[in-house]
Amino acid sequence: MIIQHRPDLTENDVTPKSAYLNRRQLMLAAGGVALSGIAPAALATPPAAPPWLSTKVSNTAYRSITTDEGVTDLRDATSYNNFYEFGTGKSDPSSHAADFNPYPWEIEVGGLCDNPGTLDLESVLNGKRTEERIYRLRCVEAWSMVIPWIGIELATLLKPFQPTANARYVAFETVLRPNELRGQRSLFSFIDYPYVEGLRLDEAMHPLAFLAVGMYGEPLPNQSGAPIRLLMPWKYGFKSIKSISKITFVEQMPPTTWNLANANEYGFYANVNPQVDHPRWSQATERRIGPNGDIRRINTRLFNGYDEVASLYQGMDLRKQF
Ligand code: MTE
Repeated sequence: MIIQHRPDLTENDVTPKSAYLNRRQLMLAAGGVALSGIAPAALATPPAAPPWLSTKVSNTAYRSITTDEGVTDLRDATSYNNFYEFGTGKSDPSSHAADFNPYPWEIEVGGLCDNPGTLDLESVLNGKRTEERIYRLRCVEAWSMVIPWIGIELATLLKPFQPTANARYVAFETVLRPNELRGQRSLFSFIDYPYVEGLRLDEAMHPLAFLAVGMYGEPLPNQSGAPIRLLMPWKYGFKSIKSISKITFVEQMPPTTWNLANANEYGFYANVNPQVDHPRWSQATERRIGPNGDIRRINTRLFNGYDEVASLYQGMDLRKQF
């Protein structure tokens, strides 16, 4: 991982969007097929992000954490998704993105804290410097991407709420809007809604824990978790909960969606670990969906290569607390 602390960077130093729009994507736009193998259909247009958000995201001039690995094409990162609220297929989130209107948005923050409250999205970002971070995203299904996100550290949102001494965990909830999110009205869903996730408080306060409001220089598209989603780059992707509407400081380990669905297969910690296989498949390697749609099998790294988090788990048996 390359850490750049360069407050002198200008807007032009942030990865220009044109860099992600390569020849292959132009071909796709001209009628090719996406990674999912589904020909792009004429889709309805999702509601546009408010101008203040587009401006804030595109004016992001600071890039703090990056990588020299090739960045996944925008097209693949936004057409091959997991977002069960839109359906279980990889192309369902992009196909049904227009059903959802994330503007305006509010996040309610409460539980064990001295300063609970509800913030609109503008207040979440107000006075905070957004930054670009290029993170690896490793899904528990053994595929991975490299994506340039734009947002803020999770800790900068959480700290002003002043968690109390007995707050040991943070619980997150995705918005519940069955009228807009067809997966939430499905009678055959094998996860319950709202989608819930959780972190230990020290994990949540780690500088790598990130809240994204944009990617590839634009506000997040709906299929990627608009208007605000978590990114925990050292954990399997299911911890990176999308479209967050509620955050609660709690004392006990909170329930999490995939653990509730199958506790044998999906643990609370979900740290990327090549030595702890999923009961139904190996986690030793992953399918990297890289630039130009290039797919390679690469070795999976402990904590997805983010070694600086190791001290959070000192003394724990990572096989048992998986
Ligand atoms: N958040 C919600 N609310 N619903 C979901 O189904 N899927 C998770 C995570 N966040 C999911 C979610 C999973 S399994 C993964 S791998 C990542 O989102 C995928 O993020 P991406 O689609 O942006 O690649």
